[in-house]
Amino acid sequence: MFEQNDNIRIGIFGLWRGGAYIKSLLLLPNVTITAVCERMTDRVDKNLEKLAEQKEKPTVFTEPEAFFSSGLFDAVILANYLPEHAKYAIKALRLGIHVLCETTAAATMADAVALCREAEAARERGVLYMMAENYPYSCSCTELRKLYRTGKFGKMMFAEGEYVHPMDPENSSFYNSPTIQGKYHWRRYLPVTYYCSHSLAPIMYATGERPVRVMAMTAKDTTEHISEFKRLRADLVGVMLLSTDGGAVLRINGSTYCPPEDNWYRISCTRGSVETVRGEQTKVRVAYNKWDTPEGEEQEYFYTPEWTEHKEAADSTRHGGGDYFVVRAFIDALRGNGEPFPDVYDSCCMAAVGILGWKSALEGVPYDIPDFRNEEERKKWENDRDNPFPDFETGEHSLPYSTSPVDAGEDW
Ligand SMILES: NC(=O)c1ccc[n+]([C@@H]2O[C@H](COP(=O)([O-])OP(=O)(O)OC[C@H]3O[C@@H](n4cnc5c(N)ncnc54)[C@H](O)[C@@H]3O)[C@@H](O)[C@H]2O)c1
Repeated sequence: MFEQNDNIRIGIFGLWRGGAYIKSLLLLPNVTITAVCERMTDRVDKNLEKLAEQKEKPTVFTEPEAFFSSGLFDAVILANYLPEHAKYAIKALRLGIHVLCETTAAATMADAVALCREAEAARERGVLYMMAENYPYSCSCTELRKLYRTGKFGKMMFAEGEYVHPMDPENSSFYNSPTIQGKYHWRRYLPVTYYCSHSLAPIMYATGERPVRVMAMTAKDTTEHISEFKRLRADLVGVMLLSTDGGAVLRINGSTYCPPEDNWYRISCTRGSVETVRGEQTKVRVAYNKWDTPEGEEQEYFYTPEWTEHKEAADSTRHGGGDYFVVRAFIDALRGNGEPFPDVYDSCCMAAVGILGWKSALEGVPYDIPDFRNEEERKKWENDRDNPFPDFETGEHSLPYSTSPVDAGEDW
């Protein structure tokens, strides 16, 4: 762990999303980006420009072996390919490198179990794992947590989390292009339930409750639309119903592409509800039952919360300040100030919601989510390597990535 004034050396693996962290890191005192790993030179060049204001220049690696064994950084941000997150998180933790890993934490149940065990062992040695789930750290989601924790609304009974992110045809073609991203790039094969942490994490952060069961359904896109957007996957929408360890029901979605683009969260409790506002993500709505309205408060009101500290820094980064505060929370945890959220257990729980939600959608049955803190429960899944993402070399995958195949398929 580090003292307040110790310099923390950071490595970044993957400079597409990874490049978005540079701004936040440069805003933090006593943090230096000492190494980056990226094989695409245009992405390296672009991000080195962003690093011009840092005195020390980072060492650039083009392959992970040399990067991880360089000894040049204390902590790594993993913004590499999603299906390889767990593999490199485990590698880093074994080397004593703290990990801030992009979403999602693991692509298979076996990976999630292995990651939990490794992170537990690392924690014993003072080495931390956190997932870089930025949405709970936006200003409005942080406010939902504050409000829920006043206790005035009672206990969560029902919550909804929506992360809806359609892309225009140009962007979609870029992200789905086999020539730019590679034929077997994960995003082309992302099943509709997997990318669910952005819709789920803010609710877990606010309430501390954990999903224990998942049931999922999907909606298929039209053939015309699929070809217009050059997708491999047929599903447009994936919705999951979850029950929690506190007895609540949640409705969340994975990577859903239908309009309008928005993020929205509602936590409905026994006495009232706290939510963000559809179409106005930075706003919060508070509403009580008429008979439960606390004295001196309106029964219903809307407002836009503001950061009470680090406002300028947070406002200069993306995702409602979430990109700043998620990195800050990690650095704070490394300095012994606060616990990471999501820790490895919550991160693997969210990954399991996506993975088991997918099995549920394919089979039409609910699945129990193991408690990753409990070795007996997680052990049941230690050999489950069902994986919808293709092998980079052979293209083989052991689960379908779409509830029905797309005819034009590999030719886009
Ligand atoms: N939290 C958010 O808001 C947010 C936003 C976008 C992406 N993401 C996450 O970020 C991660 C990365 O996604 P992305 O959008 O940047 O696309 P991506 O997965 O294509 O980017 C990964 C980058 O890592 C590099 N890379 C991967 N393996 C490498 C290797 N072995 N050697 C050298 N370089 C390698 C690639 O060249 C690429 O530039 C994903 O997990 C995604 O879920 C999160």
